[in-house]
Amino acid sequence: MTSETSAKNASGRLRSQAWFDDPSNPDMTALYIERYLNYGLTRQEIQSGRPIIGIAQTGSDLAPCNRHHIELATRVKDGIREAGGIPLEFPVHPIQETGKRPTAALDRTLSYLGLVEVLYGYPLDGVVLTTGCDKTTPAMLAGAATVNIPAIVLSGGPMLDGHYKGKLAGSGTVVWEARRLLAADKIGYDEFMDMVSSSAPSVGHCNTMGTALSMNSIAEALGMSLPGCAAIPGPYRERGQIAYLTGKRIVDMVREDLTPRKVMTREAFENAIVVASAIGASTNTPPHLISIARHVGVDLTLEDWQKFGHDVPLLVNCQPAGFYLGEAFHRAGGVPTVMKELIKAGRIHTGAPTVTGRPMGENVERAPDPDDDVIRPYGKPLMNDAGMLVMGGNLFDSAVMKTSVISPEFRKQYLSNPDDPDAFVGRAIVFDGPEEYHSRINDPSLDIDENCILFIRGCGTVGYPGSAEVVNMQPPDHLIKRGIVSLPTIGDGRQSGTSASPSILNASPEAAVGGGLALLKTGDKVRVDLRKRRVDLLASDEEIAARRAALKLPELKHQTPWQELYRGLVGQLSDGGCLEMAVKYQDIVHTSGMP
Ligand code: FES
Ligand code: MG
Repeated sequence: MTSETSAKNASGRLRSQAWFDDPSNPDMTALYIERYLNYGLTRQEIQSGRPIIGIAQTGSDLAPCNRHHIELATRVKDGIREAGGIPLEFPVHPIQETGKRPTAALDRTLSYLGLVEVLYGYPLDGVVLTTGCDKTTPAMLAGAATVNIPAIVLSGGPMLDGHYKGKLAGSGTVVWEARRLLAADKIGYDEFMDMVSSSAPSVGHCNTMGTALSMNSIAEALGMSLPGCAAIPGPYRERGQIAYLTGKRIVDMVREDLTPRKVMTREAFENAIVVASAIGASTNTPPHLISIARHVGVDLTLEDWQKFGHDVPLLVNCQPAGFYLGEAFHRAGGVPTVMKELIKAGRIHTGAPTVTGRPMGENVERAPDPDDDVIRPYGKPLMNDAGMLVMGGNLFDSAVMKTSVISPEFRKQYLSNPDDPDAFVGRAIVFDGPEEYHSRINDPSLDIDENCILFIRGCGTVGYPGSAEVVNMQPPDHLIKRGIVSLPTIGDGRQSGTSASPSILNASPEAAVGGGLALLKTGDKVRVDLRKRRVDLLASDEEIAARRAALKLPELKHQTPWQELYRGLVGQLSDGGCLEMAVKYQDIVHTSGMP
């Protein structure tokens, strides 16, 4: 397939004109056009040769993190009209992280597929991708990358900072704290509800550096949004202003034929990995970024996260790795300040093209300098070597660990042996899925103590279709009451980006497809070595071979038609959790109005 097709066809006419203005084919043109007139568009407008711009609307009452986009779309449309385009807003399959069962990760793919069909099959010359809640960003970027018409990201922005009893209360992160207080009988049901709700004081997505703010920052680092877009809080006036500017810009992008494949290059992905480390991004970002790269045709692997990301220092002081929330991050300069500082340290490809039409280096050159508190200078970070560790061993081929959330207490408890400072051995406690974890974590017969490692399996893309955010398991209540608030956890599922749990997760291949975790038994000894980046079951090769020979995989129970389809086609988290057959469809823009 070629890499240089575009929104314009061979004669230089806009793609939409093949539908709406083809004098050689009046029958079809009339048929295409008449229904778009029925709500008030005029034939003159639609046949004027002005770019037709889609607004991919991810907000709805079911998707409250993105709901604000319903209002923002008005400003996007103002910008599109002002620049001479015609806006057509259309709905995208909702993805709500907190509301969807069994997991919103299943819907990333459904939403992606839906967007591909819309962009491929309707007369749009360019598209504004409204993003926000976790999976909306990768779904929209991968869809636009696949079809390859000019596209620009508009995030809805984080919620205002939450407060509870005078302290900052960050989305998700406060939940983990409130659960510990509830488990320790320090608060009751009502206070638990109030405490958790306090973190959501306004429209917008999670205000912590969870998956949403991480992925929107990454979209900006990829060059796919206007500079500064990611961090502006949803209710701020600048959010409406950047919606307007984004609408204006996409029209010119169509005229310049600036497509996603021209922006999302290998260099852009390397920039994104470096920024992800510096902001303390969610552990969901590696699979999402790899999936976008695969759909755009850039070769990106988990090892690239180790190679380009691990030794980057943590510059952004936001929860869960730090203290602040989205408002402070925005006021301190957001992604442009982080990138400007990383440029000074020689960590960013400054020439990477962006949606502004200018290279990344120019976009961020006038950003404020770090304030030394919310955004730290490169030489005075919150932590060195703060990127993901990419792990291997005899239980899985790959898994990731977010080093920026390994607390000093955790280091003291597990990594304090002077002879072997980066390793520890623990007794495995194995749960088959979150249901078993919840029903058995307080079971005294498991005899869980501070020398245990909690494992969870059956939670990868195939096992728990989509892959569940469950690896950050809380210790049993009796340990919490003794002040042991976290144990090492390992699993083939994911964990919330808002969690500060020192987990090893996204283990691939997962247990459901016969990965090594399927062989593990409660009581096994497992060695974790962070320096060698290995997790190993301490058992002989013969023992492991015997367990493999006896292994019988549990039967998968599908609950919906989509789950069955998805499980048959999906790959592992290490490869982005894509539908494997889908990645070959690249640059498929349809430039003719004829079927
Ligand atoms: Fe939607 Fe966090 S739950 S952004
Ligand atoms: Mg999440």
